Amino acid sequence: MNEEQQASYQPPSTTRDAGTPVSSDEYSLTAGPGGPNLLQDTYLIDKLAHFVRERVPDRVYHVKGGGAFGYFEVTDDVTPWTKAAFLSQVGKRTPLIARFSTVAGEEGYADTDRDVRGFAVKFYTEDGNYDMVGNNTPVFFVRDPMKFPDFIHSQERLPDSGLRSNNMQWDFWTLSPESAHQVTVLMSDRGTPRSWRHMHGFSSDTYLWENAAGEKFWVKYHFRTEQGIQNMTDAEARAMRAEDLDYHRRDLWNAIARGDQPSWRLEMQIMPFAEAASYRFNPFDVTKVWPHRDYPLIPVGRMVLDRNPENFFAQIMQVGFDVANMVPGIGPSPDKMVLGRMFAYGDSNRYRTGPNYEQLPVNQPAGEVHNYNKDGPMRFRHHGNQPVYAPNSYGGPRAASQRYRDAGWLVEAGEIARTAYEAHRDDDDFSQPGTLYRQVMTQTDRDHLAGNIVWHLSQGVERFIQERAVRDYWAKVDPDLGTRIAHDLGLLAQAR
Ligand code: HEM
Repeated sequence: MNEEQQASYQPPSTTRDAGTPVSSDEYSLTAGPGGPNLLQDTYLIDKLAHFVRERVPDRVYHVKGGGAFGYFEVTDDVTPWTKAAFLSQVGKRTPLIARFSTVAGEEGYADTDRDVRGFAVKFYTEDGNYDMVGNNTPVFFVRDPMKFPDFIHSQERLPDSGLRSNNMQWDFWTLSPESAHQVTVLMSDRGTPRSWRHMHGFSSDTYLWENAAGEKFWVKYHFRTEQGIQNMTDAEARAMRAEDLDYHRRDLWNAIARGDQPSWRLEMQIMPFAEAASYRFNPFDVTKVWPHRDYPLIPVGRMVLDRNPENFFAQIMQVGFDVANMVPGIGPSPDKMVLGRMFAYGDSNRYRTGPNYEQLPVNQPAGEVHNYNKDGPMRFRHHGNQPVYAPNSYGGPRAASQRYRDAGWLVEAGEIARTAYEAHRDDDDFSQPGTLYRQVMTQTDRDHLAGNIVWHLSQGVERFIQERAVRDYWAKVDPDLGTRIAHDLGLLAQAR
């Protein structure tokens, strides 16, 4: 507003939330100028009471993040593999919101710290919301949901001092050899991406696609950045922590504000259903990648982010992703992590923003919602005078059982038990990270990886855990890498 506009501008009068006008923005109501304050100052009481309720509980992890709105456009015919309506036609566009995040840090933590980054996308499709909740890494630290809370605890803070602890991280990792692949990625420069725009996104987990003829496929999603991969070195990332805690959030916001719309190509790895049974390792183990020579990337479409949020709290804090939000043509797989995740996200959203969180504008599906859920805190859309039970004789919604079946597979179950996945020929925890180290990384990548590991292991990690990290972890990923880390940690001289 310029000065002239300011002079003629008449702002609306301040009111309480009930809409009734108030008489001052500055002064509380007192008996005489020196007080005391009066209980009948309902405006002050409302204001303070509302203020102390401004926060909803944080996500249990993936707290610090940012995001934007955009669209997905289909570029290639994928109807041979899925009947998902939003993927049914080349050129079709579906609106979406994407949220990127760090895992372990709280709101206010440094964006550039070494960590995995969340990569979550909510597609507002005609069949309801489809949420693809992935990371910027193709694998994960553990393969059984039972270990997930322990893993997250080990990345967060000590119970007594409230401090982060590398000792706790390495203790967990080195006692959980299945984490070696993900920790190799995390300790490489991919663990410090230059920005959210400059990283890929992966479903990591395996899902099921089903086409109109009922044929099924196992799939992994790869969102490939069109900005190109760019990372920070460890030193750059640590320097940025001192300069700008919100560097990634700011980068995404500024890029979109200046019209530089970031984009990703969605490409899929698609495994014919029957091949899973005879594949040389368990394809549902999220600590493994499927080699591209076995399952090359198949193009699907493009995700573009073109609109910043208008309100960070309402749209980025309150967006609720749920792995269980799948549309016809897409389903879960026997990946145990997916099956565990299908419970946890809805539960977290109900805890954070209540049982009616899907009525919040950012979570509201594009199509209509018809079911028999009713009432509860903050429900503001009601069905009106409709039957509240099923079956009923009064025209209430009815499931179209013939049209919509649950996507599934034949289970050849053994005895009910708590066991590891059945062992496959090539199931081991160290071959894939070893191949990544020797055959995919450049010499510079390898040098940075070794340096990053040594630095990380030097920050308050007890010697016996350092020794285990060398002996039972890095030497198994690659003997030379193990020797190099042992040498740089000063462990070799001691061992002799
Ligand atoms: C059994 C394993 C897992 C459990 C129980 C679990 C649980 C959760 C929960 C409860 C949240 C908070 C949701 C919210 O309040 O909005 C969350 C967030 C998230 N999780 Fe997981 N998770 C698991 C594994 C994974 C894996 C394997 C990935 C990646 C492939 C992943 C990616 C994410 C992301 C990106 C978010 C943040 C979503 C957002 O931006 O709001 N999680 N997870």
